[in-house]
Amino acid sequence: MYKAKQGKKMINKTLTQNQIDSFLRGDTKAVLNLAEIFMNINGYEKVKNTDIVKFLNGWEPEYLTTSESGWGMSTMDAIRCLYDLKRTAIFAKGIKKATDEIARHYPNEKLVAIDAGCGTGITSAALALSGFDKVIGIDINHETITQAKKFIKGLGLSNKVLIKFADATTYDPKRKIHLIHSENLYTGIILEPQVQIINHLKKYLKKDGLIIPEIVTLHMTPLTVNWESVVNVESSIRLKHVRKENILYKSSKTIHKTIRFTPNTPQKDLITATLTIDNPKSNAILVEMDVTVYGGIVLPANNGKFLGTSEVFKVKCDCISGDKGVISYRAGGKPPKELIDPK
Ligand SMILES: C[S@@+](CC[C@H](N)C(=O)[O-])C[C@H]1O[C@@H](n2cnc3c(N)ncnc32)[C@H](O)[C@@H]1O
Repeated sequence: MYKAKQGKKMINKTLTQNQIDSFLRGDTKAVLNLAEIFMNINGYEKVKNTDIVKFLNGWEPEYLTTSESGWGMSTMDAIRCLYDLKRTAIFAKGIKKATDEIARHYPNEKLVAIDAGCGTGITSAALALSGFDKVIGIDINHETITQAKKFIKGLGLSNKVLIKFADATTYDPKRKIHLIHSENLYTGIILEPQVQIINHLKKYLKKDGLIIPEIVTLHMTPLTVNWESVVNVESSIRLKHVRKENILYKSSKTIHKTIRFTPNTPQKDLITATLTIDNPKSNAILVEMDVTVYGGIVLPANNGKFLGTSEVFKVKCDCISGDKGVISYRAGGKPPKELIDPK
């Protein structure tokens, strides 16, 4: 859909202070401007404003299956993350707030950040423009890395941002860092290695270093879905693909599970929650996710238009009304296929 134009020359685009300030304040127009610069530098047709929603929703996200770890996303999906304007704007705003905090805490040090899963390079750019002296942006997709490098060079940020290929779950930065940023946040923390990345990289974090995002809150609600009328669902589907009439029952009992990415305690990679089953035919869990980027700056569920949307896990459940059903799955893995009745 969005192919490279031939023979496009790379431009060097120095941003005005006004453009930088707007971006770091979380202005979606400033993000759009940067997305268009990215497309131009990498020889893509720009996405027309009227086509952005179609671009974000036109096809399902594509995860790499060929990389050693099986993690990583297609380059076009990294670009779709960038074009998810509100999401990107909120992350830029949170990054600026965290950077100011780090700068206050370490006034006499050269500040170093890692952007783990840098994608297009937009979040690495946000870190550098916010005040980091050195940003190491790593990604597991070679093509994405090539394009992010061109973007960073085009923005005139190569002196501060190093973009390189690496697996963030094993990468050794060989130094202590002030901040880890990682946005590998498929709803429910499935499919993407957010927990594994943070657990690995936090060993390199300075004593009072920061992690972005700070908190992920999952909201889980039992549902009864007419699965026979919803095609091709192995273990989960985005809610927007389930027609309303196929949701036969939605429980009023939602549980909320908070996951904090704190520097000192490793986050368990097993996610478990206990749900109250108030319909014996419950066979699905609606999962929604809010992300606290930093300092109260929140990306609420469904405010991101590409990823971050409501997900429905298809589960087996032999529970009866009033039972407790335990859901349990590996972060970064596949969604669970059954609810366990703890009785
Ligand atoms: C959701 S995108 C976010 C990109 C960018 N940080 C942003 O916020 O726009 C996640 C990126 O992480 C990369 N990724 C996934 N697993 C990774 C891993 N183990 N090591 C490095 N990068 C990884 C993906 O290829 C993808 O480009």
